Amino acid sequence: MAKRKAKSPGNAGKAGGRKPLEGYEVLLCVTGGIACYKAADLASKLTQAGAAVNVAMTEAATRFVAPLTFQSLTRRQVFTSMWQSTEDFRAHHVSLTESADLMIIAPATADIIAKLAAGLADELVSTLALSATGACPLLVAPAMNDRMWSAPATRANVERLKSWGVRFVGPGEGYLACGTMGAGRMAEPAEILDEGGKTLLQHPPKAE
Ligand SMILES: Cc1cc2nc3c(=O)[nH]c(=O)nc-3n(C[C@H](O)[C@H](O)[C@H](O)COP(=O)(O)O)c2cc1C
Repeated sequence: MAKRKAKSPGNAGKAGGRKPLEGYEVLLCVTGGIACYKAADLASKLTQAGAAVNVAMTEAATRFVAPLTFQSLTRRQVFTSMWQSTEDFRAHHVSLTESADLMIIAPATADIIAKLAAGLADELVSTLALSATGACPLLVAPAMNDRMWSAPATRANVERLKSWGVRFVGPGEGYLACGTMGAGRMAEPAEILDEGGKTLLQHPPKAE
């Protein structure tokens, strides 16, 4: 497939004309950590870069940021359950990954990383991650306490996912919401946008 002309997705709208991610569909999955507030910025940045952004949230994520925030930023329906009815009556636990050019999980909790490594599918986000297989690349931006990040279970889960081709961005080191300094801070939205943009621009949009 022809590569698209490389352009930084961070330059959205600056040069006018076609936006760098126009035509691409991104599935942004948000799981339950303090960094959820940064996912709202990421949703906005992806939208400003021209991508069509569908957002799916775990129940825990909805306790940190309201779905309405993402709905307003993306101007699209937000998905919070597999059992929710949709306007098009499609089974969105598979249709959202079928149409997506990229799935991003940001922030990704220790819990969702463990579920992905075990192949669980007992709620919407983990089910979407499984159905991304063969449909779209998966980019994970972990965010958690430094002890949770260094726990042997998390280390093993991350290595397992990497060996399956799952891409990771971050986490970085720095101030953590729990008040300590260490590794586990979610990559900044601009960095995730950049990483996601690089993956997307390797191929033309599915919709084209
Ligand atoms: C205030 C608060 C902050 C939390 N922050 C994180 C976090 O940054 N990373 C993480 O892995 N878990 C965090 N947790 C724990 C998760 O919310 C918990 O494991 C939850 O079951 C995750 O569900 P999910 O993966 O379905 O979203 C936090 C919990 C609370 C109460």
